[in-house]
Amino acid sequence: MQPRGLFISFEGIDGAGKSSHIAALADAFRAQGRSVTQTREPGGTAMAEQLRALVLHEDMDALTEALLVFAGRRDHLRRVIEPAMARGEVVLCDRFTDATFAYQGRGRGFDEEVLRTLERWVQASPALAEDALRQPDMTLWFDLPPAVAAERLAATRAPDRFESEPAAFFGRVSEGYAARAAEHPQRFVRIDAERTRHQVWQQITQAMVRRGWLAIMVAAQGGPA
Ligand code: TYD
Repeated sequence: MQPRGLFISFEGIDGAGKSSHIAALADAFRAQGRSVTQTREPGGTAMAEQLRALVLHEDMDALTEALLVFAGRRDHLRRVIEPAMARGEVVLCDRFTDATFAYQGRGRGFDEEVLRTLERWVQASPALAEDALRQPDMTLWFDLPPAVAAERLAATRAPDRFESEPAAFFGRVSEGYAARAAEHPQRFVRIDAERTRHQVWQQITQAMVRRGWLAIMVAAQGGPA
């Protein structure tokens, strides 16, 4: 029997340390015999990756940013996420719509009602009931103080348009994530991302085991490189 598709998103301010855990979780699901689609936003399709390059590097206002990320999201949903879900795969997506509410909504101060309208238009799915939206089955929210994230980021590469924002911006983005988590408590799992890499991995696998998505044995063996 084909397993049910699973859609998991990863969120948090820049520098929260999602990447290595996404790769490790993909390996853990594969070790259990699941097919995994590992993808990201903005991006995930040829067209959406072009939009990503614009959003990260070209000057634009918050409405343009929101329209581009939702345009990319629509293409990503149609070409990648919906087909993978229909095949019963595990979709691991580095950021999704919660990032738009956190970054464009809270970070830039853009109208959340407009974002809600775009969310309804873009995430309507032919695979779901008419008034249902495609949303992640679980969102792992890597939460850590903006000052700690900034320290971690400073040690890496040249910053993009978001990473070069001042600390106050990430304070607002953090509050935006907290607000989305409060709005969607059944979907959000808060990960204390200030802990060691191993402790972060344990929090992630515990959430998966609790839902019956990963076997304890597989969870215990894996982990980020
Ligand atoms: P990120 O996911 O951190 O990728 P990388 O690890 O390669 O830097 O970068 C994506 C950036 O885009 C991040 O700063 C958040 C921002 N973003 C938005 O502003 N709105 C969105 O809807 C999404 C998905 C991302």
